[in-house]
Parts: sequence; structure tokens; C-alpha cells
Amino acid sequence: MSSKLIAPSVLAADFGNLQRDVEMINNSEADWFHIDIMDGVFVPNISFGMPVLKAISKHANKTIDTHLMIVDPDRYIQTFADLGTNILTVHYEACTHLHRTLQAIKAAGMKAGVALNPHTNINVLEDTLQDIDLVCIMSVNPGFGGQSFIENTYSKVSALKEMIIRKKANTLIEIDGGVTDQNAKQLTDAGADVLVAGSFVFKSENQTETIKKLKAIANS
Ligand code: DX5
Ligand code: ZN
Repeated sequence: MSSKLIAPSVLAADFGNLQRDVEMINNSEADWFHIDIMDGVFVPNISFGMPVLKAISKHANKTIDTHLMIVDPDRYIQTFADLGTNILTVHYEACTHLHRTLQAIKAAGMKAGVALNPHTNINVLEDTLQDIDLVCIMSVNPGFGGQSFIENTYSKVSALKEMIIRKKANTLIEIDGGVTDQNAKQLTDAGADVLVAGSFVFKSENQTETIKKLKAIANS
């Protein structure tokens, strides 16, 4: 069985010490950098934009997994490729022509991800699954770090895993929101491949150790 990945969310980092926190991730057992881009329209909050991602990319030495919580994401596909993104995730709810958007992300040299809000059923991806490298199941309503995990996520993960197997797709399942040591194992047992963790990592005493522990639990 392939190993389960941990993607710390930089949204929860200390922006006054951003380089320090990026180096912490570089030197930890984390697998990816998770970057949350919010526009204040698709979600109520505004996070950070291109100049900050550019600064992160300059120091990051791991896969950059960018989660766009913005309307009309097609406008920025090339920009995020140029900023060093390896996996670009758009929201299903923000894309009128999802299939076209996925092709455009791949044409720009990135892997293509689709995020689903908690209210969106996985069945909407039946006809595009083979074109999707990663499905990000939102386990909170997007827009803020530090929210509580929505329990319905487990059954969503199992159902998506079944669909991936049935369709013989090569799609990773990522979970985003409220991930802790308390739900990590149940999520990976249900079929999750990548766990995003913001507050759980950055609010802990020893962040490097927390990442290591979370990864061990996810792979136990
Ligand atoms: C929420 C973001 C998440 C967030 C997760 O809209 O997409 O990536 O940073 O933060 P925690 O782990 O604190 O729920
Ligand atoms: Zn995210």
C-alpha cells in the first residue's frame, strides 16, 4: 500500500516568520505544501495572493499543492503554474466547464485537482474522474482554518474510493479541514491518501514532531 501523505496548510503559519515556517516544513516529514488562495467572493475570507506564494515557492523544496477558493479560476491557471504550483485544485462549485478547466491545468504542466464543498455529492465527478489527479474533499466549509471536522466526511471518502476503484481511475483523495490525530487514521482507513493539516500542526508546541506523529498515525 502506498504511503499516506501529509500537507501542512501554510494558512495557519506565522506570516511574520514565513521563511522560518517554510523551512520547518522543508525539514520535516511533511510531503507537500498546501497553499490556500481565497478571493472574498467564493468564500467570505481573503487569504493571500501571488506575491506571498512567490515568496513561499522561493524557499519551498517540496510539492506545492495550491487550493483555489476563487470564482472563475480559469483566469489564473497560467499564473499559478508560473508561481511554482505542482498541483492546482479548483472548486467544482466555481467551474461552469470543469472538463475544460482540467485540461487547461494539465496543458499548463500541472496536476489537476477538484475540491468538493461539504454539501456537494461525489457523484458529480462520475464523468470527469478519469481526468482528475486529486479530489479534495472539504471536511469543513472552505474559508477559514481552525474549524471543526464534519463527520459525514468518512462516508464520502469511502464512496469516492469505491468510485475510483470501479472506474479504474488514478486519483488521489485529499482531506482538507479539521484534520487531527483523532480523525487521521479513520480517514486513511476509509481511503484518504493526503491529509491537509493547518491548525493542528501550527498551533502545536513542536510542529516538526506533530507532523511526524500525524504521518505515523495516518500510515498505521
Ligand atoms: C479552509 C482551507 C484549509 C485550512 C485547513 O478553507 O482550505 O486548507 O487551512 O485548516 P485547519 O487544518 O486548521 O482546519
Ligand atoms: Zn485548503
